[in-house]
Amino acid sequence: MGKQGRFGKYGETKRVDRLRRARIGTPSPHGSEIRPFRSRPSSDQTFYKKPHAKISLAGDTDARFITRLSGKVFEIYGAYEEMVPKWFESEMTVTIIARMNRQPVGFAMIGDLFNRYDIQNASELLAIAVDTKKRRKGIGELLIREIDRKAADLNIKRIFLHTALENYPAQRLFAGNGYRPWKVKTNFYPAGQDAIVMLKDIRGW
Ligand SMILES: CC(C)(COP(=O)(O)OP(=O)(O)OC[C@H]1O[C@@H](n2cnc3c(N)ncnc32)[C@H](O)[C@@H]1OP(=O)(O)O)[C@@H](O)C(=O)NCCC(=O)NCCS
Repeated sequence: MGKQGRFGKYGETKRVDRLRRARIGTPSPHGSEIRPFRSRPSSDQTFYKKPHAKISLAGDTDARFITRLSGKVFEIYGAYEEMVPKWFESEMTVTIIARMNRQPVGFAMIGDLFNRYDIQNASELLAIAVDTKKRRKGIGELLIREIDRKAADLNIKRIFLHTALENYPAQRLFAGNGYRPWKVKTNFYPAGQDAIVMLKDIRGW
């Protein structure tokens, strides 16, 4: 996998087409079958740029960062230092990375790993995290916007997520970006915390 160069508009269009084909696949007789995601481009293939941070698809070289950050921020909820990298490796997720000065500072992951609810054309925002030193700079919001764009490209109509009932910063971030509370799930996390499930309709549907 190449490490040099960035996606130009043409390269990005081709990549998204590939993802779209991978996800949509052959129409199911039931109308809602979803084929696995596939995301393994070079980690330097930037497709979204802000003055202070760039968002790109995560590549294999980002696995260590994702593992480390997941361990740090999600360990109070369970063994997410092990789980999140496994999700990343699976072909059922798409992960994006935020970088500042080429260093990874945050990531977000969407996917169809768990068939939790009977919602048609929905996917789950499985994880989003920003390095503690880089918070409150709008990076979480950048990641969410790019996830929305990817979701629209992938024919996803709704995104749902779980976050701890006690996780006020995350709930504010999500509520400020179009997610609405749906229901509470008691003992959702392996460590026993309750979760709130939030839901968002993707614009354009
Ligand atoms: C939640 C998280 C991703 C937010 O990332 P971030 O880059 O700091 O978020 P942003 O700077 O884009 O913040 C956007 C908005 O979210 C809300 N927000 C973010 N952090 C907040 C905090 N500590 N307290 C209150 N509101 C907060 C605010 O409304 C903020 O807008 P404002 O700064 O204009 O007030 C980050 O705190 C994090 O990584 N937390 C640990 C992992 C986690 O809990 N993930 C969510 C569950 S999967």
